[in-house]
Amino acid sequence: MDRAGWQKAIRKMIDRYGAPITDDDARVILDYLSAHYSSPP
Ligand code: HEM
Repeated sequence: MDRAGWQKAIRKMIDRYGAPITDDDARVILDYLSAHYSSPP
């Protein structure tokens, strides 16, 4: 996934599955996944 895909996945975890992730943590997680586990856009 690219950054936008990870963004959506994290939102889905929070909104649909009720993952207890704060906005601050979501940003950190997104930066990490984009940096280490992303395909180029
Ligand atoms: C931010 C960290 C997380 C990431 C990046 C992440 C990512 C993913 C991805 C990529 C999938 C599979 C594809 C999909 O259904 O979209 C998934 C499925 C799922 N995640 Fe997460 N997840 C995270 C945290 C969590 C947390 C904390 C929970 C629990 C509160 C959770 C619950 C689930 C559930 C229930 C599924 C569906 C499993 C299934 O139907 O087989 N996730 N997650």
